Amino acid sequence: MNAEFWINAWNTGRTNFHQANYNDKLTQYFPQLNPQKGQKVLVPLCGKSKDLLWLAGLGLKVHGVELHEDAVKAFFSENDLLPVVKTQKAHFTHYNHEQIVLSCGDFFQLNAHEKYDLIYDRASLVALPAPMRKTYAEVLKKALKIGGKYLLVVYDYDQTQMEGPPFSVSIPEVHELYEDRFQIELLHSEKPANEGPRLEAVGGLEIKVYRLEKIR
Ligand SMILES: C[S@@+](CC[C@H](N)C(=O)[O-])C[C@H]1O[C@@H](n2cnc3c(N)ncnc32)[C@H](O)[C@@H]1O
Repeated sequence: MNAEFWINAWNTGRTNFHQANYNDKLTQYFPQLNPQKGQKVLVPLCGKSKDLLWLAGLGLKVHGVELHEDAVKAFFSENDLLPVVKTQKAHFTHYNHEQIVLSCGDFFQLNAHEKYDLIYDRASLVALPAPMRKTYAEVLKKALKIGGKYLLVVYDYDQTQMEGPPFSVSIPEVHELYEDRFQIELLHSEKPANEGPRLEAVGGLEIKVYRLEKIR
């Protein structure tokens, strides 16, 4: 989906992807990445997710990247995180509060080289159509340190049954995108229970949780 789609989604309140509480796959499976205090975690396409707070609560330095400024501002204001320091650099406006930085701008302009120890991706890879997913994966591969770990939560379903987003990302696609640089482990599959009627109506849809480790 192009930027205009997401700008419109935020402008018109079509943000059903936002969860009022921490994502249960995050709280359940992120510990399997063995996160250590002070490590840097990248949260691409972060929206105003509460998950950023959960990650900060582990003592991590959290870096979210989000296109829409309203989402970035709402994250801080709705969670009473003020004051926020705002700086402008290259393609992004950065909003800092203690160990959380949200960069407002186009994720595809992120040019980070082995900067992060961890990545958390929920509703982010699946927010993009197939050709964009390839480019997205390349940005993440470059950004993560060797030995870095990545928790990936996707939907897997018959794409003819529903138009994305969220798009379906199958097991073969995860391998196609990442296996040149990552060891890939499927940690968990389940039918959705709290994902709303649209997704729950898609026969055979599953949530899949992967642990990826960058090995080269
Ligand atoms: C489906 S939402 C998921 C948000 C978040 N991961 C969550 O779990 O709530 C996808 C988000 O990606 C943002 N987005 C889409 N394209 C982007 C881009 N090129 N750069 C940065 N953010 C983008 C959208 O504005 C939207 O907030």
